[in-house]
Amino acid sequence: MKVAKAAENIGVKAYVVGGYVRDLVMERGSKDIDFMCVGSGIELAEEVKRLYPKHVPLSVFRNFGTAMLKLEEGEVEFVGARKESYRSDSRKPLVETGTFLEDMERRDFTINALAISLNSEDFGEVIDPFGGLIDISKKMIKTPMDPEITFSDDPLRMMRAIRFAAQLKFDIDADTFYAITKNAHRLKIISMERIIVELNNIILSEQPSYGFKLLFASKLLHEFFPELVALQGVESVDDKSHKDNFYHTLKVLDNVSAKSDNLWLRWAAIMHDIAKPPTKRFNKKVGWTFHGHEDKGARMTPGIFKRLKLPLDERMKYVQKLVRLHLRPIALVKDEVTDSALRRLLMDAGDDIEDLMQLCRADVTSKNNRKVKRYLDNFDKVERKLAEVEERDQLRNFQPPVSGEEIMEVLGLSPSKMVGDIKEELKEAILEGKIENDHAQAKELMFIIAEQKGITPKK
Ligand code: CTP
Repeated sequence: MKVAKAAENIGVKAYVVGGYVRDLVMERGSKDIDFMCVGSGIELAEEVKRLYPKHVPLSVFRNFGTAMLKLEEGEVEFVGARKESYRSDSRKPLVETGTFLEDMERRDFTINALAISLNSEDFGEVIDPFGGLIDISKKMIKTPMDPEITFSDDPLRMMRAIRFAAQLKFDIDADTFYAITKNAHRLKIISMERIIVELNNIILSEQPSYGFKLLFASKLLHEFFPELVALQGVESVDDKSHKDNFYHTLKVLDNVSAKSDNLWLRWAAIMHDIAKPPTKRFNKKVGWTFHGHEDKGARMTPGIFKRLKLPLDERMKYVQKLVRLHLRPIALVKDEVTDSALRRLLMDAGDDIEDLMQLCRADVTSKNNRKVKRYLDNFDKVERKLAEVEERDQLRNFQPPVSGEEIMEVLGLSPSKMVGDIKEELKEAILEGKIENDHAQAKELMFIIAEQKGITPKK
């Protein structure tokens, strides 16, 4: 083991630390290794580099007292033991050097405050100063020190506690959880970029509702996602109540997650009913309604993504599209549904039609099994109808068979609203089934439309 040899050469004690040890004990796949030594991490990395016969790239971050070697097996990090709080992405310049124990106690959780010795007197032994091994066996997230101190060192750790609980299916120790509820407001000082990394990891866990329930109960969720919190609760008027849309949303999220690892489909599940609170009305005859929540939800999506520092590119547009369309397949269940309605949905959903159908199926959260079966059978029917129309008309990612350039060229028009109007009429004719999605038929109709509009085509 080269690191052990290098540590001996320069006379420092060295250890494997952090997540690597935890994952090894838990027999989970581990990622990059972190080495810690009581001394200079940079010197240790330089010595390790020297022991390799071949060149290995070394990056040194002098300000932070860390170094990284790019080995064939992966990246390995070297750090000197420190007295101050440990943060893997700390932007704070160098911290005071500390002892082995001081370094361990400044880490986030007991399960991460584990080390494997690389020193001759106890080589290979796991060193566990805070009971991390027991906590792994008890499936418990707990801070090594008073949680008030651990969380005030870095309030993001409150999110990390829930992220680890969600990923590992662990509980959070009662005192640790109480400290989170007490200090939730301190998340304010943490950048949204760091928060969202943890949130996305929670969303990508096997059963994300668990993490969200912890976020809600601790009130961390209230700090950065009040729109989701607003979904919680049931109101009753005249004995009529609506369902709790927060727990419904979490069920939809779990349902989607059981079928797909796509983070953005999971985000679409989170967002699909987000506009229910602002569109909620009570009507004496029909009870509670949420008219237009799909459109309003789609309109709310960019603002929420922006604030949460989520991407605003095609990933946001995908979520927005699924939110906007999530009720459309339900409207297609009726027997008498027209081909034109099916064509319109195919055109609007494009390549995301399968994901939309997955979201719709996940949206069925009734506890009545007969109802669930009926709804899912209905979606089977809709999918069959969509497949038929799709095969016949090839409407997915629809491009009008006559382009704007061709319209201008043939009719002698310059770019203008007129060109757009003609294109729109051609599209409508195809969607309504008046003509097929075919170039010759569209061109013929184009001449008729032009004539109606008093345009004389070029010779
Ligand atoms: N750490 C910490 N406080 C933080 C971040 C990290 O104490 N806010 C410490 C923990 O000891 C952690 C180690 O730094 O084990 C490495 O951090 P990181 O790579 O973020 O986490 P891992 O534990 O390696 O786990 P994962 O790879 O799942 O993120």
